[in-house]
Amino acid sequence: MPPPVQPALPVFVNLGPRSYLVQVGRDLLKTLGEEVNQKLPDRVKCAVVTDSNVGPLYAETVIKSLRAVGKEPHLITVPAGESSKSLSWSESVLGEMVRFGLDRKSFLVALGGGVIGDLGGFCASIYQRGIPYVQVPTTVLSQVDSSVGGKTGVNLPDAKNMVGCFHQPVHVIADLDTLNSLPKREWNEGFAEIIKHACIRDASMFTAIQDVAEGKGDIVGLIRRNIAIKAAIVEADEYETIGTRALLNFGHTLGHAIEAAAGYGKLLHGEAISLGLRAAAWLSTQIAELTAEDYEHIVALLKLFDLPVRLPDDFDTETLMRIARMDKKFENGKIRFVLLRKIGDAYVSKDVLEGHLKQALDELRK
Ligand code: NAD
Ligand code: GLY
Repeated sequence: MPPPVQPALPVFVNLGPRSYLVQVGRDLLKTLGEEVNQKLPDRVKCAVVTDSNVGPLYAETVIKSLRAVGKEPHLITVPAGESSKSLSWSESVLGEMVRFGLDRKSFLVALGGGVIGDLGGFCASIYQRGIPYVQVPTTVLSQVDSSVGGKTGVNLPDAKNMVGCFHQPVHVIADLDTLNSLPKREWNEGFAEIIKHACIRDASMFTAIQDVAEGKGDIVGLIRRNIAIKAAIVEADEYETIGTRALLNFGHTLGHAIEAAAGYGKLLHGEAISLGLRAAAWLSTQIAELTAEDYEHIVALLKLFDLPVRLPDDFDTETLMRIARMDKKFENGKIRFVLLRKIGDAYVSKDVLEGHLKQALDELRK
């Protein structure tokens, strides 16, 4: 008989009084109630915020598990997709929370991908000036990135993540079994953020990523490794004030502009970031020391997951630049742009000018 599969160790996010664990493994939804109860024993009423794809698949298990430990969950479902990450959907979720009688002693469970994590976390951060929330990420992208670190928020029509708060979750439960229902396109988009982590922090992860692409890798190990990278960066710079956390924005300046310009939901977040990663890697060959060989390696890895690396012709440079200028990474007309010296070694540069971004967009069209 093969030995029993050992559960992956949880990742501890050490943020003093805001510390929490990220559970990562399989078959975790059934015991979610017990986990949550250990963390929030005195809180009973809760909102389970989910979307129209994830709710029908997993909400019943989550609700049952919460009820089994005496919690009183209320399900709130928003339409699937990036358009729900908006002020108007926040208002609707908050209104439901009032109607369900949630108070300051209540809590929220965000069950879904990054959209639900960001929207649910944002609602938890402002409801009655803040209630605790638990992240239950169900996409590769949300497990390796958005569920950890406490960035919550919503989009404005023209600019991503423009309204939001830092509000750390009290617990994260990343159940890899939920990924079994993830469509291929959504599975692939998560690898944009994994490739980003490898680019900025861990060149040796390229091989592990390639193995997973070829169907022979250890996905639990890879996801845990990425959560640990994210946790370490957040621990070093929780509020993005000293530059370490800003490294996570590699590929995101143009990526966010492309995502917003396409119209939310047209390109998945990870797809837009894939284009942003190629642009940032190319700029790294022009302004920093990244070699052409390493640049080609990054592009090849993105292609391995069918991620887009060529900007469609209907994206107009001026529109993209207008949107990019509204990004939080533009300060007093200057851009804080993340470049690579080599794979695994990133830094925040002030040498990138608008002209460089336009050149990178031209390059992306090739
Ligand atoms: P998403 O939440 O929209 O999920 C993608 C799609 O997959 C949706 O249609 C969803 O309904 C569906 N889905 C989710 N889980 C599923 C499952 N298990 N089975 C079947 N279908 C499932 O998007 P995402 O890619 O997870 O996250 C993208 C969002 O995350 C963006 O808004 C981005 O800005 C945000 N983000 C936030 C941070 C952060 O630090 N807060 C970091 C990275 C990205
Ligand atoms: N996804 C960027 C960050 O968490 O800082």
